[in-house]
Amino acid sequence: ETLDASGLFVLPGAIDVHVHFREPGYTHKEDWETGTAAAAMGGTTTVFEMPNTHPPTRSVAELRVKQEAARKAYVDYGIYGLLAEDNIDCLQGLIDGGVNAFKCFMGNTFGNLPSPSTGAMLEGFEIIAPSGLRIALHAETASIMAWRQKRLIEAGRNDPLAHVAARPAVVAAEAVARAAILAEWTGARVHVLHISSALELGPLRDAKARGVDITGGTCPCYLLLDTRDYARLGSVIRVNPPVREASDSTAIWAALQDGTVDLIETDHAPHSPEEKTKAVIWEADCGFPGVETQMPLMLNQVAKGRISLEDYVRFSAEQPAKRFGLWPVKGRIEAGAHADIAVVDMTKTEIIEAARLHSRGKITPFEGDSVTGVPVHTLVRGRFVQKDRRLVAEARGHGRQVTGIQRMPPAVLNHADQTLASVLRRSDQR
Ligand code: DOR
Ligand code: ZN
Ligand code: ZN
Repeated sequence: ETLDASGLFVLPGAIDVHVHFREPGYTHKEDWETGTAAAAMGGTTTVFEMPNTHPPTRSVAELRVKQEAARKAYVDYGIYGLLAEDNIDCLQGLIDGGVNAFKCFMGNTFGNLPSPSTGAMLEGFEIIAPSGLRIALHAETASIMAWRQKRLIEAGRNDPLAHVAARPAVVAAEAVARAAILAEWTGARVHVLHISSALELGPLRDAKARGVDITGGTCPCYLLLDTRDYARLGSVIRVNPPVREASDSTAIWAALQDGTVDLIETDHAPHSPEEKTKAVIWEADCGFPGVETQMPLMLNQVAKGRISLEDYVRFSAEQPAKRFGLWPVKGRIEAGAHADIAVVDMTKTEIIEAARLHSRGKITPFEGDSVTGVPVHTLVRGRFVQKDRRLVAEARGHGRQVTGIQRMPPAVLNHADQTLASVLRRSDQR
């Protein structure tokens, strides 16, 4: 097969460390076939898939169920294991069983998984730290949100901005600071998902300065939307954490440029249009599909001169590969790297239309937007999964789980001798 790439750019395929593909359990929203087809169409060659399915990925048996579902994938994938209140004794099994990272829902969101107490989080971090696997955090403090939502409902608020009021930036920043100190104590590597506010950047910056191996990601919606969009889009942009003020978005752009925020992820969270559009904001499901629109939306920012193409590749491929243990095999185009490639046409303009998305979640806040810069071919390990804006149907099942995650010793290990496991072992020996 030959490819005429004259006038086109060859980029490493995007590595999206934050997608929800819903299978098993919620396949009316998405499954591994539709989710990875969307990724292939969007120039994304590797995804890391979240554990809030039904059942959630909280034990080895459930990991095996997810691996089986993933066999139809078009693109390569990592699988997150859950760190929750009720599965601390399963964590070592998940590590040995082959998860690629962990996810900890500090605040509850879709799936209503039990947020771990700070005590359970500490023990979970102690168990995971020696593996070197990164723990991704949904950093929102459950108790603050529960209190505020109760007060808002008592006051009769049910409009889209009440969603923002229930989850002010302090909800996220408090959780980032708490998780960072636990990471510093245990040596666990952590990643702050979906950074949505200026206030989170302070604790993130401070922890990095102290030598904690902490990274941060943000999503296109926090860069491209702000509170002025609720009047137009309402519950369609209900997402956790919420889209906030324009000043937050400006601060996050700057934090990407100065390295405080490391990477772009999508939080691809598909729901049906009926589940998304409710008159009462509390009843609308949170999130929307993003894996297919990420690259066009961000290349459009490149076309507008807001970031350089080199910076975009750093945020979409290089940093995710480095921070999630896939470097040097994925995330770059050089001898010895996988041929995971997005070929992009920076002169091509498309209109985003939910009806044409490959995701089952046919609703997007970017409906009708014109974007310049489109991935026109996608290759995963040398094989076309998208060609000329068409999915290559025969590539279904080509995707593989990524392996070889670097098992590096913990970055900062302050108190290894005081982990709960070591204390229990010592008392056993007495
Ligand atoms: O808006 C969200 N949707 N935020 C999350 O953290 C979870 C996600 C989902 O799974 O729907
Ligand atoms: Zn989340
Ligand atoms: Zn998410």
